[in-house]
Amino acid sequence: MALLVVLTSSLLVACMGSSSTTLDDQGASVSSFDWGLPDGIPLPVEPDDNPMTEAKFQLGRYLFYDTRLSANGDIACASCHHQEKAFTDGRQFPTGTWGDTHPRNAMSLGNTAWFATFNWARPDVTTLEEQIRGPLFNSSPIPEHGLTSSNLDGVLASIRTDSTYQALLVAAFPEAATDTEWDFDDHLIPALASFVRGLTSFDSDFDHYLQGDSSALSAAAKRGLALFASERLECTHCHLDNFTLTDNHMNRSWTYPTSNFHNTGAVYRFDEPNRGVYEVTGNSSHLGQFRTMSLRNIALTAPYSHDGSHATLEDILDTYSQGGKQGDYQVDGDLSPGFTLTSDEKADVLAFLCSLTDLTFISNPRYGNPWPDADGNPIGVASNAEADPAVNPQCQLSNP
Ligand code: HEC
Ligand code: HEC
Repeated sequence: MALLVVLTSSLLVACMGSSSTTLDDQGASVSSFDWGLPDGIPLPVEPDDNPMTEAKFQLGRYLFYDTRLSANGDIACASCHHQEKAFTDGRQFPTGTWGDTHPRNAMSLGNTAWFATFNWARPDVTTLEEQIRGPLFNSSPIPEHGLTSSNLDGVLASIRTDSTYQALLVAAFPEAATDTEWDFDDHLIPALASFVRGLTSFDSDFDHYLQGDSSALSAAAKRGLALFASERLECTHCHLDNFTLTDNHMNRSWTYPTSNFHNTGAVYRFDEPNRGVYEVTGNSSHLGQFRTMSLRNIALTAPYSHDGSHATLEDILDTYSQGGKQGDYQVDGDLSPGFTLTSDEKADVLAFLCSLTDLTFISNPRYGNPWPDADGNPIGVASNAEADPAVNPQCQLSNP
């Protein structure tokens, strides 16, 4: 129900023809960044110590696609976060610069500016700046980029002496223009966070529908939305509001952020290091609890779940329809105890989930690779021939 309530108020805002900043007039005057949001989407929080600027966003974009930021010179953020897959990588588990396998599935990066916590099950990671330090310097669960005190100076030297970066750094941090000791904490991480924060996705059919175009959703997707929000399926108990489709969210008009974690019985057994929030708290009531994932662009981000154990959206629906996998631990009370869908109804839910695909997001050159290839041409944006819901296998039933 919650989704439908928010949905109705959004439609009202849209009908009144008000601007995207009506929910949040204060935000409008304090952001120097063009968020380019449609009507009804509240501005996200910008950290006081890292307000958004276009110059930081652009610097972050070059860094995001640069493999020089890794121990072996072979891993960039973009190695595991591919734009054409809504910034996931299509694999069950990604590998880091030394070839180690990460125990969890790579996450999508759309609209993270509205999230209250980051990663699959880390209530303690509450800013993008903090999150991004992880893959750069982590040794656990794996070294992703593998930066350590022994290779850091070399990596920094390659950035500091590159004329492209010098220009970008001076533009992004003019107050430090005479200081060529650019570093991760004060410059590179804030820029990477600004780029990721600026990756917004609000141009799906579902968004057009929310903005008042009732023909933007097919009849099947509308029936799927009604099922999604129904007491039978109970999806909106957790995939809650209509701009993030999760209960892990915040914006400038809310006084406190919300981040909820749930055991949905996605797997039979939760083994180390995938025991969810328990890994952080050691509290047995947190066993198997993971963050509610946003469902935006979900048809582009297979495989699914924290351990990539669901190959298809249909597999996910099958697990939910049995009330979770009924394994070791009791599932969350907000979850439906189980439901039966006819194949037509299943197709309708898939049509709704596929209406969350934003083809503009995955083809937007602003988010693409800015570096030139060996011939000096911009690398730009990779295409994804299966992205369109009309041909995407995630959007079709296996046995219609
Ligand atoms: C080796 C693959 C890999 C690399 C390289 C990598 N990531 Fe990730 N990313 C992941 C995985 C896996 C997760 C989920 C981690 C977890 O929950 O344990 C993730 C999570 C994230 C999240 C959290 C998203 C959310 O919704 O909470 C952000 C933001 C992110 N990565 C940004 C980056 C940036 C920026 C870089 C480069 C500095 C980067 N990643 C490098 C694999 C990678
Ligand atoms: C009790 C809260 C809750 C309810 C109710 C719920 N979900 Fe989820 N959803 C989650 C959590 C938590 C995850 C991550 C679980 C994991 O990976 O272990 C998730 C993951 C997903 C994923 C995979 C996301 C990804 O990126 O891998 C899909 C798709 C999904 N849910 C759809 C639905 C649908 C459809 C319904 C209704 C039938 C539903 N959810 C009901 C909390 C919930």
